[in-house]
Amino acid sequence: MSVLKATAVACANIAFVKYWGKRDAELNLPANSSLSMNLDRLTTITTVEFSPDYDDDLVILDGREERGETRQRIVAHLDRVRAMARLRARARVISKNSFPSGAGLASSASGFAALSLAASRAAGLELSQRELSILARFGSGSACRSIPGGFSEWTAGSSSEESFAEQIAPPEHWDLRDVIALVSRAKKPVGSTEGHSLAPSSPFFQARLASLADRLTKAKAALLEKDLATLGPLIEEDAISMHAVMMTSRPPIYYWLPSSIQLIHEVQNWRAEGLEVYFTLDAGPNVHLICQAADQAEVERRLRDIEEVLEVIVSGPGPAARVIEP
Ligand code: PMV
Repeated sequence: MSVLKATAVACANIAFVKYWGKRDAELNLPANSSLSMNLDRLTTITTVEFSPDYDDDLVILDGREERGETRQRIVAHLDRVRAMARLRARARVISKNSFPSGAGLASSASGFAALSLAASRAAGLELSQRELSILARFGSGSACRSIPGGFSEWTAGSSSEESFAEQIAPPEHWDLRDVIALVSRAKKPVGSTEGHSLAPSSPFFQARLASLADRLTKAKAALLEKDLATLGPLIEEDAISMHAVMMTSRPPIYYWLPSSIQLIHEVQNWRAEGLEVYFTLDAGPNVHLICQAADQAEVERRLRDIEEVLEVIVSGPGPAARVIEP
């Protein structure tokens, strides 16, 4: 029997227009389309090997064997690949993040993108980018945007076949930077799966959805025109709209810390002083500062002066998920 083994690498991504709330939880169809940039410094490398000699699936993340819920989610994903490839063999999954694990940075996007590519290739499947994006979406919604390179749009779609991400511009299109200010390494209080399910209970959820199509069209056009003065305010508006939904769902979810608000104010002050930088936050307290390459050093310098900032991680636009070893 030939060796059923492959290694793949994938980037995390930061959404400029975010996904919060699902239209179909089973199929992982989002309530709205979203727009993102891959992050070249936040990557996951995953090796998957299927073998008839293995009695059970083994999952090792950052050198530690997983046993609980995380393992279950990964095994469920392996089961999807096994069903597609008509394969019964158990697998060994060894995965490593380039960023400190437990740093409060989402690793599910890079993780499930790398796992989808490594597992499908190891199982002998040659999936198209579209098929891979659909497969990754089942693992974690945002992972579907980590399959194409550079800047991507995930079209919500009304069926599984229609819901996948596509590149709208390659990494070389625009040297934007995401300067991440880490203010907490704690595990988030509410995971995104639960958070998505609470979104419709917010009285602002429908208002957010109603404003999204227009924001997405404008953000996409600004991105294609490399117009940060237009894109930046849309990125901030979208993050605030998502957090307004989070904070008003029942029960509410407060992801921000005092230091998150402090940084939001700093970004506004710096902009008033002429530094072109914008903020966004995912389901956590860490603040992503979006700027052009020419302003990165200054943004970084200012962040390093703030006591509450534990670490600064800078990414540019990252490539597509790719196989690095057969
Ligand atoms: O992919 P999930 O289920 O972990 O959801 C991620 C949701 C946000 O990161 C908060 C927003 C987004 O679009 O990435």
